[in-house]
Amino acid sequence: MRDPYIFSRMHRIPGYLDPGDALILRALLGHQNASGYRGGAAEIGIYYGRSFFLIERQLRTDERALAIDLFDAGDQKSGRKRLESFTERARDMGCVLSEGQVIRADSRTLAPEDIIARIGRVRMFSIDGGHGLAHVRADADLAAATLSPEGVIVFDDFCNPEWPEVTAAILDFLRANWDRLRPFAVSQKKLYIAHTGIGAEYGAALDRAEGLRRLPRAPVNLFGHTALRVSHRLWQRIGYEILCRMGLGRMSAMLY
Ligand SMILES: C[S@@+](CC[C@H](N)C(=O)[O-])C[C@H]1O[C@@H](n2cnc3c(N)ncnc32)[C@H](O)[C@@H]1O
Repeated sequence: MRDPYIFSRMHRIPGYLDPGDALILRALLGHQNASGYRGGAAEIGIYYGRSFFLIERQLRTDERALAIDLFDAGDQKSGRKRLESFTERARDMGCVLSEGQVIRADSRTLAPEDIIARIGRVRMFSIDGGHGLAHVRADADLAAATLSPEGVIVFDDFCNPEWPEVTAAILDFLRANWDRLRPFAVSQKKLYIAHTGIGAEYGAALDRAEGLRRLPRAPVNLFGHTALRVSHRLWQRIGYEILCRMGLGRMSAMLY
């Protein structure tokens, strides 16, 4: 099924999520919905909400998404504050955000209870905030402490040479938590992890997901453990960017 957000709205929101990972996130949340897994969703590192809106849209009406960001930068083009741009986009998107669903803070000042009190245990936690070693390590610990038994943590910029400390922090975190948390999927940009008992189920769900049929998938060895590698082909990424820049974003769905 084509997602009306991924191929008709996402490219209009400045940000970093690409259609490959958007399809993976959507498939994972869809699997959680179909399996009756419940919980909130949280993201550290909202920017203008490109990935936040995708995740929020997949939640049930009684589940809530939490947006965490410094929101300290302005939008150079419009001169508006980042938080203002984000909340305005949320309104356009039909995403109703209560005050408690947006935390304007350094994520390192947050305790697990700050999150659980607002949205309950988390079934999808996206980490894309500060890219230094101490930031990612602290965000990972925070996510792990709030995760539901079936929850997924998604790290951005895993193995991105531009951000070596992100990778170092993730490896450090995995080493410290290997008895309970393992990676089950990896894309060009993100690493997906879950509790040991459930990762294989998510890997299998991604492998058979209809929405990923045009993204090549293969098992890969990650630290002596098998995960699913999901590729986003270069021609798909280039085609998507070109069509979006030509104002033909909707047509890019044909590439997937
Ligand atoms: C790469 S952008 C996030 C992109 C977004 N997830 C997307 O898909 O478009 C990183 C964001 O992290 C935020 N950030 C950086 N350090 C942070 C911190 N210590 N606590 C909270 N947010 C932080 C920045 O303000 C910025 O909006």
